[in-house]
Amino acid sequence: AKLLVLHGPNLNLLGVREPDIYGRETLADINNQLAQHAQAAGHELDWYQSNAEHELIGRIHQARDEQVAFILINPGAFTHTSVALRDALAAVGIPFIELHMSNVHAREPFRRHSYLSDLAVGVICGFGSASYHLALDAALSKLEQKAG
Ligand code: DQA
Repeated sequence: AKLLVLHGPNLNLLGVREPDIYGRETLADINNQLAQHAQAAGHELDWYQSNAEHELIGRIHQARDEQVAFILINPGAFTHTSVALRDALAAVGIPFIELHMSNVHAREPFRRHSYLSDLAVGVICGFGSASYHLALDAALSKLEQKAG
């Protein structure tokens, strides 16, 4: 099946940005590992990063045309602000996992609210770049449940 990983604003700066919070791995490192991980399980994984809300929304719409089976999304700060991103995910109806590298519940209070969480299959946060791999494992087991 096809999986899509979406990265929201400022995640292009991974490895450089606040490394105490977000670690030293770059987005390219993470994407390459995820693509290998998915491929080893017999699936196909594409990824997309944008700092612009409308670009992420466009990519979500495109995912429906591409028959993407599962989305993993780290929405960055749009998590806490974007009704439009929520509506896009609801509109396409593709199951998704929301993930964060940091533990958003242990930071500023404004990070505790997400516009996406109640629509997500599940939410993972606090494990650094491993949050992406945990989310991918969870998505793969959901896809296997569906296939089997
Ligand atoms: C983040 C958490 C968000 O609150 C923040 O705005 C980010 C990254 C994370 O991965 O921990 O940009 O989504």
